[in-house]
Amino acid sequence: MDLCHLHLALVSIGAAVKGADASQVARLSASADCQSLDTPNQHSQSYPDLITGNLNGTTLIVPISLEIAQEVIPDEYEIAEQAYRELLPSFPDGMYPMVAQIVHDHDIRVYSLNTSLADFSRASLEFPFIYIAGDDHSPFRWVGTSLITYSNDIAIEGAQSYGITVHPATFDPPCDAYVSKPNGTTYAHSQSNDTAAGRFLTLQTESSGENVPYPLDFIKNVTNQPVFANPQMCDYYVRLFNTSVTKGETAPVPVVGNVRTNLEPFTGPQMWDGVYGWRLATPFLEPLEPSVCVET
Ligand SMILES: *[C@@H]1O[C@H](CO)[C@@H](O)[C@H](O)[C@H]1NC(C)=O
Ligand SMILES: *[C@@H]1O[C@H](CO)[C@@H](O)[C@H](O)[C@H]1NC(C)=O
Ligand SMILES: *[C@@H]1O[C@H](CO)[C@@H](O)[C@H](O)[C@H]1NC(C)=O
Ligand SMILES: *[C@@H]1O[C@H](CO)[C@@H](O)[C@H](O)[C@H]1NC(C)=O
Ligand SMILES: *[C@@H]1O[C@H](CO)[C@@H](O)[C@H](O)[C@H]1NC(C)=O
Ligand SMILES: *[C@@H]1O[C@H](CO)[C@@H](O)[C@H](O)[C@H]1NC(C)=O
Repeated sequence: MDLCHLHLALVSIGAAVKGADASQVARLSASADCQSLDTPNQHSQSYPDLITGNLNGTTLIVPISLEIAQEVIPDEYEIAEQAYRELLPSFPDGMYPMVAQIVHDHDIRVYSLNTSLADFSRASLEFPFIYIAGDDHSPFRWVGTSLITYSNDIAIEGAQSYGITVHPATFDPPCDAYVSKPNGTTYAHSQSNDTAAGRFLTLQTESSGENVPYPLDFIKNVTNQPVFANPQMCDYYVRLFNTSVTKGETAPVPVVGNVRTNLEPFTGPQMWDGVYGWRLATPFLEPLEPSVCVET
């Protein structure tokens, strides 16, 4: 996330690597065996004091009714309907653009601390265009819950330190953003380790060709809204859309697909078909620590 953070976490990476905690070393090296197809981090030296890495995955916009959105988003926050209508005048009346996404965080580094963190995946339902104080000028993205790769304790603790409820989870594929089937369909699945809780998120998509209801600029806006579970601890996570990663072979692809899930804030299984979005990979920048959410 928006998720790896924390001096403490980083200090514990250092401790693990020095052999202070043998079990953690074992886990870190087990994750290191996970070979990913993702593009390496080429920007850590340019942003030495930030957490950097590449984020690759599938981000779908799921139109849900404003009534349901109001039910599932905590009462103290306000939906900034005018903000998304300004960006997307054709968005259907009475609807709200929820996000369903599964992403893989790759080659995570902090250059100035000479430290790195094992890759991990995460899956979530996210709620952009939220005003925290009622009259904010720029909207925030509420993410209360996330499924995160069970073996990455540092990523899990980092997310929890932001107030996010984490379900440790397995991912298919385990070391990449999605699998491509021979017919061009791509697939990603996440399942909570706690099988009794039965939390999961599955995305299956194919290219949507010329049919692109959400321009990349809209996705850029949504994915750059600061993330919060607790308004005292915003994650000012930035995705860069101006590097070679978003050009050529690895450029974003508009997609259409379906979502199957059982994940908070919903209280039971949900399915959505024919939803549009993007397969997208970008470099990211993230502060080492959370800060209070402030309107800009
Ligand atoms: C994103 O992940 C897919 C699937 O693993 C891979 O083919 C693609 O090259 C990745 N893109 C980047 C920029 O890493
Ligand atoms: C950075 O970390 C690596 C691996 O832990 C170590 O070999 C190297 O000496 C460190 N470099 C600096 C400048 O501290
Ligand atoms: C997203 O768009 C809204 C409405 O135009 C704007 O207020 C906000 O600053 C934008 N956010 C980002 C991160 O670009
Ligand atoms: C591609 O194959 C998968 C099963 O492997 C199937 O679920 C999907 O519908 C197929 N997609 C298309 C476009 O035929
Ligand atoms: C989570 O599930 C995976 C796959 O079944 C298993 O290998 C792992 O040990 C489990 N981890 C925890 C903490 O339960
Ligand atoms: C790319 O975008 C970032 C953030 O939006 C900005 O800080 C940076 O200066 C831009 N880089 C170039 C080469 O335009």
